[in-house]
This record gives sequence, C-alpha cells and structure tokens, in this order.
Amino acid sequence: MSTSYKNLLFEELSGENVGIVVITFNRPKVLNAINHETMVELSSALDHVRENRKIRVLVLTGSGDKAFIAGADISQFETLSSRQAYQFALFGQTTFSKLEGLDQPTIAAVNGFALGGGCELASACDFIYASKNAKFGQPEVNLGIIPGYGGTQRLVRQVGRAMGKELIFTGNIISAEEGLRIGLVNKVCEPGELMPEVFKTARTMISKGPIAVAHAKKAIDAGYNKELHEALAIEAEAFSKAFDTLDQKEGARAFLEKRLPRFQGR
Ligand code: COA
Repeated sequence: MSTSYKNLLFEELSGENVGIVVITFNRPKVLNAINHETMVELSSALDHVRENRKIRVLVLTGSGDKAFIAGADISQFETLSSRQAYQFALFGQTTFSKLEGLDQPTIAAVNGFALGGGCELASACDFIYASKNAKFGQPEVNLGIIPGYGGTQRLVRQVGRAMGKELIFTGNIISAEEGLRIGLVNKVCEPGELMPEVFKTARTMISKGPIAVAHAKKAIDAGYNKELHEALAIEAEAFSKAFDTLDQKEGARAFLEKRLPRFQGR
C-alpha cells in the first residue's frame, strides 16, 4: 500500500517485508532538499506511523542514486528574517524529535549526500546504514549559518564533542567509511545491497516482541544523557513493565519448550 504526498513516497511493504514502511524523500532535481512543504508532509507521515501499530519499522531514504537529502532547501533562506529562522528551526527540530520519539525503530538508509538537514535527519533515526557512495556533513558554515535541526546537539552526542566541532566548524564532507569509523554509521554496504541489508535488519527486529523493542528504545533514549543512577532507574522501570505483557510470558515459555516465540504485541 502507498499513501500520497507531493514530496514523499510513503510505502507500506508486503510479503516477507510486511510491517516495514519506507518514506522516500522525492525531490531528486534538488537532491531531495527539504523545503517547508516537505517538512509539513514528513510531520504528517510521522503522525500516521506513530498511530499505526501495524507499522513495526520505519526506513527513511532518498530517491535517485546521488542523494539521501542535500539539506534544507537553500532557496528558502535568501529572504528569511531571524524571527522566521527561529520558527524554521523550531519546526524542523519538533518534527525530527517526533521521528526520534516514535515507539517503532527507525533506520536511515543513506544512499548518497546526507548534508545539513539530511545529516541531522539521519542522526535523528535510531541508526544509519549507508551505501559506499554516501557522504555526510554539516556544511552550514559555508552559507554563513549553523545547523538548526539538531546538528549541534545530536551529532555531537553521537560522534563526540571534538569530532562534532571539527565537522561543524569546517563544513567538511566525510565518506561512509569515515562515518563508520567515528560511530555515526552502523554499516556500510555496496549500493545495491543497501536496501536488502536494511530490510534484513528490519525483519530481525520485527520478529521480536514490539513492546519489548519499544521499551528498550525508550529506556535507551530517556537514560542517554542522565546520570547513571537515574538512567538505571529508568531501565528498571522499563524492565518491570515488560513483565506485564503476554509477550514476556510467551518468550519465557517458548525458550523452556525449545521453540520459537510467537509474539503478539500484548
Ligand atoms: N537546496 C536547494 N537546492 C539544492 C540543494 C539544497 N540544499 N542542494 C542541491 N541543490 C540543487 C542545486 O542547486 C542544483 O540545482 P540546479 O540543477 O537547478 O542547478 C541541483 O540540486 C543539483 O546540485 P548540484 O550542486 O548541481 O550538484 P553537485 O553534484 O555539483 O553538488 C552538492 C552536490 C550536494 C555537493 C551540492 O549540491 C551542495 O553543496 N548542496 C548544498 C548542500 C548544503 O549546503 N546543505 C545544507 C543546507 S542548510
């Protein structure tokens, strides 16, 4: 099934990939740059994902083989006042936080340039798989601005303060392999292998109990920037909640009966 947007393709996969939704940024003439209209569509697509329990994994990618997303659409910047720029950043940040806050796991399948807002969007996903031709960077300083969709915060938490600063202060563009080395990217694939690898990992996650995966995601994200003792309290709370589910009983029973579990998300 596919839902219609002007700048996004929204596909609910079927067959062995049932449960996976792929959102493809589809403005190839401008390397899938995100304009306001695209951000509005993304926000609405994410609401749909959040409310639809049948969707188990969300994959974000870009159309064509050149770009994931080459950033915010620069044509919007020429006449933007500082007041409008503030609203612009807040709307993008809120939308990317909505993505980050989904119960379902999210994977960025980066198939080319992931620059500026594209790199920030990938960073807001749970993890990134990249094709060998992928390129990452925060080139905003070239435009006399700074990242505004979370780049000074999420990227730095992912790759460390010094590496994040070097990337943001220089605007340097790095390869997929370099992204892997600094911990931004989980896996680098041949271009033709990117989506099969993403789907394989998505299917593995789908085979687990969705409530357990959602609790694990919440515990990791809620605890990430907390003091360890606070973060451990979050984990204990999430761990205990899993014991209220039928999936937990089924998981233990299946192990003891030496069979695969049949999780129902309850
Ligand atoms: N916003 C608007 N248009 C963009 C864009 C963006 N972020 N990125 C690329 N485009 C457009 C180009 O203007 C060009 O349009 P045209 O064909 O009408 O001239 C088209 O996409 C193709 O890009 P082009 O620059 O010709 O391709 P390239 O292979 O020479 O370079 C990039 C690719 C990604 C290095 C280069 O396009 C670029 O630096 N883009 C801007 C990246 C950026 O600064 N992002 C952060 C924005 S805050």
